[in-house]
Amino acid sequence: MEPINPEEPHQRRPRYQGSHPRKFAEKYKELNPLKYQEDIEKVIARGDTPAGTHRSICVQEILEILRPQPGEIAVDATLGYGGHAREILRKLLPGGKLFGLDVDQVEQPKTEARLRKDGFGPDVFTAIHSNFAALPAILESQGLSKVDIILADLGVSSMQIDNPNRGFTFKRNGPLDMRMNPEKGRSAAELLATISEKKLAFLIKENSDESYCKEIAAAIVSKKGSITTTEKLADTIRETLNQWLIDEDYIIKAIRRTFQAIRIEVNGEFSALETFLAALPYCLNEGGRVVLLTFHSGEDNRVVRSFEKGKAEGLYSQIFETEIRSSAEERYNNPRSKSVRLRFAIKA
Ligand SMILES: C[S@@+](CC[C@H](N)C(=O)[O-])C[C@H]1O[C@@H](n2cnc3c(N)ncnc32)[C@H](O)[C@@H]1O
Repeated sequence: MEPINPEEPHQRRPRYQGSHPRKFAEKYKELNPLKYQEDIEKVIARGDTPAGTHRSICVQEILEILRPQPGEIAVDATLGYGGHAREILRKLLPGGKLFGLDVDQVEQPKTEARLRKDGFGPDVFTAIHSNFAALPAILESQGLSKVDIILADLGVSSMQIDNPNRGFTFKRNGPLDMRMNPEKGRSAAELLATISEKKLAFLIKENSDESYCKEIAAAIVSKKGSITTTEKLADTIRETLNQWLIDEDYIIKAIRRTFQAIRIEVNGEFSALETFLAALPYCLNEGGRVVLLTFHSGEDNRVVRSFEKGKAEGLYSQIFETEIRSSAEERYNNPRSKSVRLRFAIKA
């Protein structure tokens, strides 16, 4: 459901049962943040993320490390809802410019429109629909070879997770899609219909370190392509683990890990990250700053290895000493920030 423009004629709210909307598409106030600002603030105050939005993580920590200055050029490699981009843009003006990349062409046009509405015209902000793995080619297409600042906030946005039509979450039923760019590649359902049991077990272990990877893979493959919804996938994992009398807490974690492993495969996340990390030092000006936010060990280990190697080879003058986490206050206010690790490097 598209957020409604306050200038459009009044529309009847969706019908729902009970006193509060429960389904994503019924949350007409949350999906219309410009019109129902007070209601949105109440949702945020209870520690929830309003439907159709994303709350940016570690904003102050990122600004302190990136130190955007007027006139500098920045890349937000994962534009998402545009929260980080907006804060960086404010500091780059006058004279600076930010390029915002995202593979998601469902959300990116909405983000671009919001930033334009906030006054960031095409002279200071350009939205580019692309994978960040293509960063050097993107810079070249913009007449640049290097920039001063690069940010990547890895993984999926709350808009993607919360929208059941995108198929990322086991918490709501929907088509088993999981593509960040729904027009490209195979959906998760298509992947599960053709993958071998051995390969599936391997990727569940490799991408998410799930101990019951073999049992889960065998159950999924035995369904012969009939797993086409998020509910069916979650039920298949639950039924399998129930046979082993595994407790509910573990089962939920195993479902979450399996969904994550499949999502990583569907979107080729690790290969894109590795290509991006290898290109990073060559895309930064001397003294340029890069920050990555990682959300699980598969991402974090790759970033740490790449930054440590870059420092040893003299490409970076400084890198993180220890991991930086979200503050206790942020974790309380935004539980989705709990697993973040902030890593940074400075170009020599
Ligand atoms: C966590 S969100 C970013 C949120 C953003 N920092 C904000 O403040 O709103 C991650 C975004 O990165 C995008 N993304 C993930 N992998 C990508 C890739 N390889 N190339 C470009 N965009 C990617 C996703 O589509 C998603 O919109």
